[in-house]
Amino acid sequence: MTAISCKALCRTFQQGEVKITGLDQVTIDIDDGEFVCLSGPSGSGKTTLLNAMGGLDTPDSGQITVNSQRIDHLSKGEMADMRLHKIGFVFQAYNLIPVLTAQENIEFVMQVQGVPATKRHIKSLEVLKEVGLEGAADRLPSQLSGGQQQRVAVARAIVSKPTLILADEPTANLDTKTASQLMDLFVELNRHHKITFVISTHDQRIMTYARRLIKMQDGKIISDEKLSSAIQ
Ligand SMILES: Nc1ncnc2c1ncn2[C@@H]1O[C@H](COP(=O)(O)OP(=O)(O)O)[C@@H](O)[C@H]1O
Ligand SMILES: [Mg+2]
Repeated sequence: MTAISCKALCRTFQQGEVKITGLDQVTIDIDDGEFVCLSGPSGSGKTTLLNAMGGLDTPDSGQITVNSQRIDHLSKGEMADMRLHKIGFVFQAYNLIPVLTAQENIEFVMQVQGVPATKRHIKSLEVLKEVGLEGAADRLPSQLSGGQQQRVAVARAIVSKPTLILADEPTANLDTKTASQLMDLFVELNRHHKITFVISTHDQRIMTYARRLIKMQDGKIISDEKLSSAIQ
């Protein structure tokens, strides 16, 4: 099955008098269970593409289908619902709520979903354990290292059992060792939970994990190759 299908996506940004190309006729299909890295220099359109795939931004033209559902015509409410239940996001900046503990940050998502309190409590501890943070439930983001904060963000992304995780330069603020631990975690989630991953990066080391490497430049896809040498 196709996890995401993009057809002829175009997105321009108007900055004063100047038109900036974000995406230029991007067409791409990603199947369920794929582990894809999106690479390219800064400004090549990686974030714009991930935002479009996740419904955080609407392209000017083109079609996007996620899990066989067209998302380019959804209302704001339908889109929010789809994001909440089907897609997990992991960002470069971990985007945790600073006044909430690790566990509360995860429970917050489930609260929005209407999950009852007892279940929220159990589930949040379960996913914290899954990302190797069982001892850190009561800590605030400021009391966690960058790598640990990113793991909380991953726990928050997987708690709703998404079929797809979109990660935008998730290792950008992490040291090499922590970055490869995070990638190992992604690989494991891909293998054991069959979650499809699309990860943007311009870090060469991270690309060695890719089973498929898509390169972008100036808002276009310039190459798309399957790799058999991935660390998996
Ligand atoms: N909100 C915005 N307003 C104006 N230009 C933008 C905006 N978002 C992205 N762009 C431009 O679109 C292009 C692609 O950006 P982006 O998708 O962020 O690239 P990448 O993530 O690969 O660094 C860049 O030229 C960037 O400056
Ligand atoms: Mg970016």
